[in-house]
Amino acid sequence: MDKKIRNDFPTLDQMVNGCRLVYLDSAATTQKPLSVMKEIEDYYRSSNANPHRGAYSLSMQATQIYENTRTIIKEFIGAGKEKEIVFTKNTTEALNLIAYSYGMNFINKGDEIVISIAEHHSNLVPWQQVAKAKGAVLKYLYLDEEGLIAKEEIENKITAKTKLVSVTQVSNVLGTINPVKEIIEKAHSVGAIAIIDAAQSIPHQRVNVSELDADFIVFSGHKMLAPMGIGVLYGKEALLEKMPPFLFGGDMIEYVTEQDTTYAELPYKFEGGTQNVGGAAGLSAAVKYLQEFGMDKVQAIEKDLVCYAIDKLSEIPHIILYGTKDVEKKAGVLSFNVEDVHPHDVATILDSYGVAIRAGHHCAEPLMRYMKVNATCRASFYLYNTKEDIDILAEALADTRRWLGYGSK
Ligand SMILES: Cc1ncc(COP(=O)(O)O)c(C=O)c1O
Repeated sequence: MDKKIRNDFPTLDQMVNGCRLVYLDSAATTQKPLSVMKEIEDYYRSSNANPHRGAYSLSMQATQIYENTRTIIKEFIGAGKEKEIVFTKNTTEALNLIAYSYGMNFINKGDEIVISIAEHHSNLVPWQQVAKAKGAVLKYLYLDEEGLIAKEEIENKITAKTKLVSVTQVSNVLGTINPVKEIIEKAHSVGAIAIIDAAQSIPHQRVNVSELDADFIVFSGHKMLAPMGIGVLYGKEALLEKMPPFLFGGDMIEYVTEQDTTYAELPYKFEGGTQNVGGAAGLSAAVKYLQEFGMDKVQAIEKDLVCYAIDKLSEIPHIILYGTKDVEKKAGVLSFNVEDVHPHDVATILDSYGVAIRAGHHCAEPLMRYMKVNATCRASFYLYNTKEDIDILAEALADTRRWLGYGSK
């Protein structure tokens, strides 16, 4: 591992079960650099107060940190206005906000909602709820044998009846980079709105929301070096304006009388209750780290790693790799199985080598069923991973079947 990068991530610098920790679960959550930890500590040491509420200096300082982060995020994703950036707890909350505020109010009986079969439950269950409550139809874009969404699928499924399309830019299971620009254009051509789940893309590649022209884009801070508990909803102003609030209470109001309430302007209308200023401080430091590192470099490192991992794992007998091997269409996420060994057993055996991978359905049960598997193992990479990590993964994997008495061949 690049010593300089490794020094930034103290969590990686530890032994697990007598081996160096090899962290390959960044699609679940990333490790945090020292600069993020310091920013959070500094906030709690010297600026902690409830934002937006106090007329005193400390509260104004907290407000400034929070609002500065909004500007930093706006610039990082190429949005037009601060009021189009709403802070949430995470991607899940952002998608629920859209589903409950937009979906429950603007989707009607017989309308069609289109998502892909590769969606994380966060971008699937809320749309099932909307479809059930409103009598709408939930349709799926299915994948071809390589795990890609074919052009014809987009053309055929998004029709005049479609009112909302919501897809992930990068699959958290297969790592597939979906053709979201085409999907957004097709959605708009039939008058539908387009939502992009960028939980697995914004941390790993340059994403410009204005160029994409999506109506909503959502992502989580904790998957991009920031702490847990802060996420982002980007929405076009005109849509956010016409949507009712999602959470009601303190901070999101303008006037409250005994029987009625008017709401605060954007984005505060959607930020009910005390907000996560410490999280925002960490998020701004995370974005700074990524910008200084360079998003192109992040993407190049991951591409190199996934390329190397595909080659390495393909050499091992009894390993089944899922998804495309075309690294132009794949981010740093690799799903695989070891024949005859349950993924949970694989993950447990790898843990004894210090290797942390994810095993299970990855919050994508419909995709698992579509792929005709119960579960997979998943290795996911970030800017702090190296080829040496993959060598250790490959060595441990080559041993896995032997542990269970199969012999290595
Ligand atoms: C593609 C995708 N969408 C949504 C989520 C949900 O993110 P969170 O748990 O931060 O809300 C994840 C998390 O793994 C994800 O990978």
